[in-house]
Amino acid sequence: MIHILVLHGPNLNLLGSREPTIYGTTTLEEINSTLMTLGKELGASVEARQSNVEGELVTWIQDAPSQFQGLLFNPAAYTHTSIALRDAIIAVELPLVEVHLSNIHRRESFRRRSYLASVALGQISGFGPQSYVLGLRALVHALQNNS
Ligand code: DQA
Repeated sequence: MIHILVLHGPNLNLLGSREPTIYGTTTLEEINSTLMTLGKELGASVEARQSNVEGELVTWIQDAPSQFQGLLFNPAAYTHTSIALRDAIIAVELPLVEVHLSNIHRRESFRRRSYLASVALGQISGFGPQSYVLGLRALVHALQNNS
C-alpha cells in the first residue's frame, strides 16, 4: 500500500470562510475527507496535516520518508517565499505534487513564482478542491508507475 502525506500550509485551516470568492466555501475537513475516500479507491492511505508554522512543515517533510512514499502539498503563501521548504523537499527526495485552489498564475504577480514547482513532479492550480483530487490521482499514478 502507498502512503501519502498531505500537507496544507498557512491559513488553509480557515477554508470555508476565508475569501470565499477566491477559495470557495469547502472546508479543509471536507477536502481531507474527500482525499481519504479517494485514497481508499486508489489503494493508498492518506494522512493530512495543516500548519501555520514554516518550521513545523519543514520537520514534517524531513520525517516523512520513514512513513510515506509521496507528498501532496499546498504550501499556501510559503509557495512564494520558502527556500527552507524547497530545501527540505530536495533533501528527502520524496515525489511531490504541488496544488493550489486558485490559479496562482492569474492573480497578483508575486504569486506567479513558486519555489516548489521546479522540485515537484508537477503543479495543479486553479480547480478549487478538485486541484487536490487531481493532484492525489496524479501522485498515486506516478508512484504506481515509478515515474
Ligand atoms: C494558495 C495560493 C497562495 O498564493 C495563497 O497564499 C494561499 C492559497 C491556493 O491554494 O490557491 O494561501 O496556495
